[in-house]
Amino acid sequence: MAARAPQLRDQGLNAPENWDAVFTPGRCHLALTIYAVDDAALDRALASARAELDRAVGVTLLGEHRFGAPEGAKNPFGFRDSISQPAIEGSGVAPLLGEARPIKAGEFILGYPSETGVPLAMPVPAVLGRNGTFVVLRKYQSRVGCFNAFLKANGETTEARERLAAKMFGRWRSGAPLTLAPDTDDPELGADPRRNNDFAYADDPRGRLVPLGCHMRRLNPRYAELTLLTDVNIHRIIRRSSTFGPVYSEDVVPADDAKGERGIFFIFVSARAYDTIEFMQQEWINRGNFIDLGEERDPVVGLHEGEQRFTIPQAPARKRIDGVQTFNVMKGGEYLFMPSLSALNWLAKAGWRNASKHD
Ligand code: HEM
Repeated sequence: MAARAPQLRDQGLNAPENWDAVFTPGRCHLALTIYAVDDAALDRALASARAELDRAVGVTLLGEHRFGAPEGAKNPFGFRDSISQPAIEGSGVAPLLGEARPIKAGEFILGYPSETGVPLAMPVPAVLGRNGTFVVLRKYQSRVGCFNAFLKANGETTEARERLAAKMFGRWRSGAPLTLAPDTDDPELGADPRRNNDFAYADDPRGRLVPLGCHMRRLNPRYAELTLLTDVNIHRIIRRSSTFGPVYSEDVVPADDAKGERGIFFIFVSARAYDTIEFMQQEWINRGNFIDLGEERDPVVGLHEGEQRFTIPQAPARKRIDGVQTFNVMKGGEYLFMPSLSALNWLAKAGWRNASKHD
């Protein structure tokens, strides 16, 4: 990923020179993620992975990160996350209310028709590529102290601060969408999967309820009319992010950010890995032209060189709030190929030695 920094707009504070050493380019990186039901299961899986590693030749462990979150845990900024996911055609899982039409499986799994009608290019031979996909991993350090200070500088009361934060994300902390709960948080709505994603922006073309420039509306405009036309359905991603560090507190101050203990492993699956994330970084996160906001950037994940602004449309005049900073700083990333189980079996049986005999 470091080699693609210009396309990803990973510059300045976010440039690869400032990334954690494990993401140093120039070597072939393997990532193993273990999802386990509890610590004991994780320890067992880890012990078996370590035993494999000991037997492996030419593989060095560069780093590991242990994290996990209790049920219902929120992201480092205190917001419920990973609510909105695309429905996938043929998955057997019916779309939840508001999830729009299912997206073609080939957008997420290699070897199946994509939204353009044909499968996307995949690694060869087919036994290796088919049923695999790509994973995009980006590690962010969350500057929760700076975020709190920004809210305090621009909101005199708790209510005003909470409102500003919700306007930046597009949802309240509970996950209740601003579209359905415009005035105040509604935890019951936030917790209800049948209602918390059941909305679009058709009745809010100017962004008076949900600002056009807020994080969530930028990353999935949900069929709203955009100044720069694009097919939203080829930019959907399956998010599987994970949070690390202490839970959110409004008492965290900017000096605490230097410890670097809070953050997010932003992880998603997409058969178009490069195209998706590079498009998002260039057009939806680090620019505002597609919504007539010029150079204004995503207030949550944009790279803000100097202090930038966030626009809240409202009557009679829109409100512009200065002082937005880079609240999530890049600490490293990888583009990864995730093989299918059959491809892993094939690799394990050393089928690759005879690759030339396959297709
Ligand atoms: C690293 C810091 C980030 C934080 C704290 C964050 C936080 C959030 C929150 C609270 C939501 C609303 C919950 C939901 O609808 O599921 C959300 C939605 C979303 N975020 Fe992020 N996010 C981060 C990074 C990113 C990045 C880097 C991308 C894309 C490159 C991204 C893409 C999305 C998408 C696609 C949605 C769903 C929008 C929808 O379907 O309505 N996020 N994010």
